[in-house]
Amino acid sequence: MAFVRGEGAWLETDDGRRVLDFASGVAVNALGHAHPALVAALTEQANRLWHVSNLYRVPEQEALAEALCARSFADRVFFANSGAEAVECAIKTARRFHFAAGAPDRTEIITFTGAFHGRTLATLAATGNPTYLEGFGEPQAGFVQVALGDVDAVRNAVTARTAAVMIEPLQGEGGLREVGPAMLRALRALCDEHGLLLILDEVQTGVGRTGTLFAHQKAGIAPDIMALAKGLGGGFPIGACLATEAAAKAMTPGSHGSTFGGNPLAVAVAKAVIEIVGDEAFLDRVRSVGLYAKQRLASVVDAHPELLGEVRGEGLLVGVRARRPVGDLVAAARAHDLLVVGAGENVVRFLPPLIVTEAEIDEAVARFERALESVEAAPAPAVADAGAE
Ligand SMILES: Cc1ncc(COP(=O)(O)O)c(C=O)c1O
Repeated sequence: MAFVRGEGAWLETDDGRRVLDFASGVAVNALGHAHPALVAALTEQANRLWHVSNLYRVPEQEALAEALCARSFADRVFFANSGAEAVECAIKTARRFHFAAGAPDRTEIITFTGAFHGRTLATLAATGNPTYLEGFGEPQAGFVQVALGDVDAVRNAVTARTAAVMIEPLQGEGGLREVGPAMLRALRALCDEHGLLLILDEVQTGVGRTGTLFAHQKAGIAPDIMALAKGLGGGFPIGACLATEAAAKAMTPGSHGSTFGGNPLAVAVAKAVIEIVGDEAFLDRVRSVGLYAKQRLASVVDAHPELLGEVRGEGLLVGVRARRPVGDLVAAARAHDLLVVGAGENVVRFLPPLIVTEAEIDEAVARFERALESVEAAPAPAVADAGAE
């Protein structure tokens, strides 16, 4: 499939088919395609100034940093171009914090099975998935992985070398695996007890995707460091690493940098995204539409128990476990002009833009049901687990 234009939750192919986009470029197009406020922000900036370098002040970047800090736990923001770069910055910030505190050996980061933190060498090591690591040499040192949901395993993994714990509040690529507020609170307490930094990877869950601006806000805790990307730019590439003043104080000018990070075009669009998504009424709607999507998916599961298992996820990061190879269901949906995305544990993810309507959810469910009927008509192959990105 090749697309030539989009509007809202809809895409049009080069041969004129209208496709319902419940992939959103893998949780990126938070406001759908061609949102007028984003088009206006981008074109206004494009007509004025594209790039100057971080050697100079970038007022649009400062405005976005202020908007992010005003709506979060953070005091400081570093801008990058992608999720992996935002996570790299989070890792560097945690290590540098301990270095400046006179503990340069505290470099180890505890991560969790099923995690996905990106494809650079460090974020791959943090991800720890052997399939993604294969062929790229020794995984970078400094990461220890424990079972998701096991606080005791985290406690047992803490040593004199531990710098931080890093977790996604809800695992996206791993298959919408829940972490839950109790676990997040337990990790916060454990980090405080041992002088560790808590890093949240909200690259996929952040910017309204789960129904609050940041997913961890539901747990009533705050991290020390947080990585964002994906929805932040609404389709324009940008990443951000947010931190408290205390956690970031060793990241002095020159300790980290990026040529393109915080590019004026990217930050102009991201500022427009945050102003819209950060509004409580907007987030209320994401929560109610997300609940509706979950209820509709549950009724699809009831109608097709031989093909589908449980419904998972929160807000508009929802999905359903498949009992056939997830790739078959994703391909069948595509054949019925519906985009969805596979994830680990054989889960089909539904990631519509946050502006999706209940009528569009009904239409997606109708297309998915037709896709399931086409799969039912085909012979059943064995189930294989599938990753996504
Ligand atoms: C939780 C999480 N962290 C990091 C990344 C990496 O982001 P990027 O592909 O922009 O480098 C992803 C991408 O799927 C992600 O879901």
